Amino acid sequence: MRVKKAIIPAAGLGTRFLPATKSQPKEMLPIVDKPTIQYIVEEAVSSGIEQILIITGRNKKSIEDHFDKSVELEKELEEKNKEDLLELVRGISSLAEVYYIRQKEPKGLGHAIYCAKTFVGNEPFAVMLGDDIVDSSKPCLRQLLDCYSEYKTSILGVQQVPQEDVSKYGIVTPLKIEENVYKVKDLVEKPKMEESPSNIAILGRYIITPKIFEILEHTAPGVNGEIQLTDALRLLMKEEAIYAYSFEGHRYDVGDKLGYLQATVDYALKRPELKDGFMEYLKKIVHE
Ligand code: UTP
Repeated sequence: MRVKKAIIPAAGLGTRFLPATKSQPKEMLPIVDKPTIQYIVEEAVSSGIEQILIITGRNKKSIEDHFDKSVELEKELEEKNKEDLLELVRGISSLAEVYYIRQKEPKGLGHAIYCAKTFVGNEPFAVMLGDDIVDSSKPCLRQLLDCYSEYKTSILGVQQVPQEDVSKYGIVTPLKIEENVYKVKDLVEKPKMEESPSNIAILGRYIITPKIFEILEHTAPGVNGEIQLTDALRLLMKEEAIYAYSFEGHRYDVGDKLGYLQATVDYALKRPELKDGFMEYLKKIVHE
């Protein structure tokens, strides 16, 4: 069955980014001039996804407004003959079919996904976390979808991370099947460095079969008292095979301040109108 729907959970508290996230979701923080969630939506669309459900929390308004039509702004830009900006603004509201649902309390990623049960129905679906943006030649989600068309089972997007960082991620015990493809033998959420089964980390992109909803319904809170998606996937693995795909591309952890700054610098340097001036500035401060 073709994967047509994607879920973007955006209801976390974003405590690593306080105070910026006190009254706005971290998914609205811009990388250069575009909110991170727009990069995610664009990746979904260019991967062939048709419908997107954003799981929102307390501060949902700015996300909804961003993907909505902005009548006054469009009128203003039209009157001032700012055609390029008008096109830019209109393009955002017509990007994709976007739906919203509210997670009433941030009870964890697993709980957020469970909120999408009715929207998803009985189809395989994609999950995309706004914390991870991936700069790749083929969109990251498209890479996973291609792997899904071959193996027709849940696929986790993974990459190797430095050993000292394993405790930040869900980590898989891999069995290599072919280049970049692993069968997942086991998985664990945020293991201690010395106990980690590998350094292959799950990084914010998943294709999951709908069986997960039956499991999430009964998944007890785990690490941090939250209902963890990793715990539910672990149970799913006992009923169906789960594969992991090591995707190509530079992935940025933009939920972390250093990752956010790295993404900002790299994306700015890719922009023709900023590249030269910004590079000159960076060289100057590095040599000072
Ligand atoms: P994180 O744990 O990275 O997000 O969850 P967080 O809790 O917002 O971040 P920090 O650690 O406090 O800074 C991964 C993803 O799951 C979503 C988050 O929005 C993020 O995209 N999430 C997490 C929810 O939607 N609901 C939750 O209850 C928890």
